[in-house]
Order: sequence, then structure tokens, then C-alpha cells
Amino acid sequence: MTDGIESIERLAAIAESHGDWSGAARQWERAGSIDPDARRYWRCAAEAWLRADQPSAAVRALRTIASGGNASARDLAALADAALSAGDPSAALDAAAEAARLDARDGAVALVEARALEAAGRLPDAVGAFERAARLDPDSVAAQRGAALLWTRLGMHGKAEAALARWQALGGDAGAIAAARDALAADRTADALSPAYVRHLFDGYAARYEADLAGPLAYAAPAMLRAAIDAALPESPPLDILDLGCGTGLAARALADRARRIVGVDLSPAMLERAQATGLYAELRCADLNDVLAAATAAWDLVLAADVLNYVGALDRCLGLVAAALRPGGLLAAALERAPDGGPDLVRQASQRFAHRPVHLRVAAARAGLHTRRLDAQSYRREGGRPVPGMIVVLGRAEGGGRQP
Ligand SMILES: C[S@@+](CC[C@H](N)C(=O)[O-])C[C@H]1O[C@@H](n2cnc3c(N)ncnc32)[C@H](O)[C@@H]1O
Repeated sequence: MTDGIESIERLAAIAESHGDWSGAARQWERAGSIDPDARRYWRCAAEAWLRADQPSAAVRALRTIASGGNASARDLAALADAALSAGDPSAALDAAAEAARLDARDGAVALVEARALEAAGRLPDAVGAFERAARLDPDSVAAQRGAALLWTRLGMHGKAEAALARWQALGGDAGAIAAARDALAADRTADALSPAYVRHLFDGYAARYEADLAGPLAYAAPAMLRAAIDAALPESPPLDILDLGCGTGLAARALADRARRIVGVDLSPAMLERAQATGLYAELRCADLNDVLAAATAAWDLVLAADVLNYVGALDRCLGLVAAALRPGGLLAAALERAPDGGPDLVRQASQRFAHRPVHLRVAAARAGLHTRRLDAQSYRREGGRPVPGMIVVLGRAEGGGRQP
């Protein structure tokens, strides 16, 4: 038996020396099936299949080890890696999670888990895993690269700059680092925030959101909007309401007794989970608010935007979509941050939120065919113990539905 295996090993080595990687892989698999305890053969087979550009066959070989029940963390990490090459992020994620359970201190395992999470679209979890991989193996260029590029993609400027500097210190690809810095610079002057950034921000904030807003931030936008809506529309049949950037549902709570039906839209699944738990919404959509507005014409009596247009930046497109989505006589009620008079129309603040100049908002509203029924300079939130300049705005679509002159 041993002689048999030895000659198979020789055949595999000869195939490898001729660059015949699939031939070699088959020989290693023969050896593995003769001696099922020899994980080494299946590892060699997987490596040869990968060199032969057949990642699915590599996955199969590594699964043979995993199904034996004695796979090491590194075997499972190799399985995750092969599954990624085979384009199967969900299998990669399962194998990587199992590998991390077996050895949470191995940087290579954390790295493959990060790559699997990224491939599965779980970007905030992925960036955390890249950071963990970099802590476990401070010399890992791949881990620093992953963290730097993902922070950049998420638009988290401070973290991205720090990770780019660490990647650079490890001798990372100068061209890729410069491109990432260019992307950050372009993002700084952009008139919109990236959806990935907003999602990441609020997914990470959701658990603390309501306690913070009720406590130090003294958030009053829902009550102020309710008062403004009651003043603009003292009596009406129950309203069909679209709650833009609904978050955990604070604004819907303030309007529930005036609603026939409330639909919420938000980019953050973690915020939406909490909104769902309120039981106030007929429907919740995880999407960009502009996309939901664009999907319906003359569908809403009231569009709510409580502390969300600060994340949208330039408002022309959004207000145009609101005008089309409102029924004749419908209202947009919004609480947003106010930029000082005499400065630019749109200010990207250090917090990354935008502030709008009131006159700019009026002009954008008029261009969209909405008339300004109310625009009060009113702070609705505090930060660092101080009131944040804000405004409570009610815009209306004319009864006839036409554009304003
Ligand atoms: C400050 S919170 C306000 C939440 C809620 N309106 C309230 O009054 O508590 C802003 C919310 O808007 C969401 N958001 C920001 N930009 C968005 C966009 N373009 N589309 C959908 N939701 C967005 C965020 O995910 C977040 O949940």
C-alpha cells in the first residue's frame, strides 16, 4: 500500500514538474482516497486544482477534509478561499466563520473571513474583520490594504486616511493608495453622501440612536413637524404618508393618529428593524429615498423628511421627485440643518452632514414646483451641549398639481 502511494506521489510530482496541474491534482486525489487520514494529499490536490484554475474542484477536495471532522482552522480558511475563487461567497462565509471559531487569533483566518464578508456584501462586518486581521498580523499588507480600501469605499474619511497611512508604511501599492486618496478628496467635495457610508453609519448607531436622541441630543423634530403639519393642514381625512429616512420610526410615532397608512424608507437595515418593531408601518423599504420617490406618481398626501435631507446634499432632484410623488394639495414636511446666510448654499460640515441655506431651499423648491408654505429657523437638536441651527419647512404641491409660476 505504501509503495502504491509512493509511486502515486512520484506521478503527481512528475505532472507538477511538467505544469500539468490537473493531472497532478488527480494523482493527489488518488493518494487521498487510498489513505483517507492523509489530509496532506487533499491539500496538495486542492492547491493543484487552484493552479489548474479549477476552484470548484479545489473546493471539493477541501470539503473531503472538512467532512472528516478533523479539519484545522487553516484547512477551513483554505476552503473559504477556494469557495471565493469559485464565486460562492455564501459557502466561503460558512467555512470562514467555522475557521474563526476554531482559531480566533490567526490573522490569516481573519483575513479570509474579511474577504468572504466583503464578497457577501457585508461591508461593515468585513472592514471590522480586516482591522482584526491587521491587528493579529501587523505585517500583513493584504489586511491593511483591505481595511484601507473598504474604509475609503464606505466614505469614512478619518479611518480611511489612517489605514492608508499604515498600508503605505508597509510598502503598499503606491498607485492604488494615491487613487484611494483621490477618491476621498473627490468625496469631500461631492454634493451627496455615498449610500454605503450612510448605511454603515446608521447600522452602527441604531442600538444607541433613540437613547441618544431622547437624551443629550434633545431631538424635537418629530414634535415640531407634527405642530407644523397640524397648522398647515388642521383637518383632513387620514393621510397616506411616506416617511423618508424613517430611521427607527420616531417621526411616524408623532404622526400615527393622522395616518391612514405609513410607508417608511431607509438605507439602514438595523434602523429598519427597529422601525418594524413599532408596528406603525404598512410597509418598510430598504432603499435610497430618491428611488422610492421615483417609483410612485401622485401617491402621497404627506412626505416626511425628519433630519434626513442633511444626508442628501443637493436637493434639486429629490424635490423634483417629491413634487411628482405628492398628490395635488400634498405636503412635504422637513426638518433639516441650516447653513448661515451669506455663505455657500450647501455646506458639507465636519460631521459630514450637509447644511442648506434657506434661500437655496426656497429656490430649489420653486424650481421643483413646490411652494414654501412655511420656513422657520428653528433648532430641533443639540450637539455638544449647543443647539444645532436648523429649520422646519413645509412645502406644498398646488391643488391643481401644476408647477408654480
Ligand atoms: C438622523 S436619522 C433620522 C431618522 C428619523 N427620520 C427620525 O426622525 O428619527 C437619518 C436616517 O436617514 C437615513 N438616510 C440617510 N440618507 C438616506 C437616503 N438617501 N435614503 C434613505 N435613507 C436615508 C439614515 O439611514 C437614517 O436612518
